[in-house]
Amino acid sequence: MAEGLAHGIEVIPTGAALGAEIRGLDVRAVDRETFEAIRTVWHRHLVVVFRDQDLGGDLSRFSRWFGELDPAPVDTRGMPSIPEHPEIAVISNIIEDGEPIGALGAYEAAWHTDMSYRAEPPSASLLFALEVPEEGGDTGFANMYLACEELPAALRDRAEGRAIKHDASHDSAGQLRRGVEAPANPGEAPGVSHPIIRTHPATGREALFLGRRRNAYVDGLPSAASEALLDALWAFATRPEFTWHHQWAPGDLVVWDNRCTLHRRDAFDADARRLMLRTQVKGSRPV
Ligand code: SIN
Repeated sequence: MAEGLAHGIEVIPTGAALGAEIRGLDVRAVDRETFEAIRTVWHRHLVVVFRDQDLGGDLSRFSRWFGELDPAPVDTRGMPSIPEHPEIAVISNIIEDGEPIGALGAYEAAWHTDMSYRAEPPSASLLFALEVPEEGGDTGFANMYLACEELPAALRDRAEGRAIKHDASHDSAGQLRRGVEAPANPGEAPGVSHPIIRTHPATGREALFLGRRRNAYVDGLPSAASEALLDALWAFATRPEFTWHHQWAPGDLVVWDNRCTLHRRDAFDADARRLMLRTQVKGSRPV
């Protein structure tokens, strides 16, 4: 059912564990009052979708309403995707002059949180679709407040007070980052540790904060116990009842809260074109 918003703008929740569409808005024309209303909806639904946006070079401008922007991760050439816009990551399978123009190819991207291997992972990510394949390439989201609330007590006891080291060596499509050596085992992977259960700095709610499964390591546990705890947490957190998937159209802009969601992407035909631009908003150290 639609929820009201300022200035006749409508909010249509997905009806799943998270996600809502905000209708009737050109995000280039947002003012302070409208943005505050958007932020309230975003905190309630964790992922918001705006359709039919004509953003061109305005993605960074709208993204800055959410806060200061982080530089994007370097691409497979070890450079920002767009040198004059180091805050924009190009996510694409398109090859030009023999070089990929962006990250993640046409592969499946496994469940993850963006850049959680940094000391201060982004609070939000904004992904804008310029070109999309007819089939595949859907992006799934999972609600980590809900997973945390419903975590069985015995599993919560095993996770409480512990931290995960978040691997910086591979991207979410499983590709080794440029200039990084593949770690011999998860304990040796480069990365930063964050609490498994964090408190969202804006809403005060607890959320599971798992990052990505590959090469993750629970600090202080023997390797087998770390693997067993991570397997149990991931199996629980990615249950279908905590998730919702977005099917893209050109002009869609999706904003997700990186502090309380995971996301993943379906693979698609490598001969089809998918071209997306992503920005990420500076966050704080998870506590
Ligand atoms: C991402 O993981 O940030 C990109 C997701 C996508 O390509 O849909």
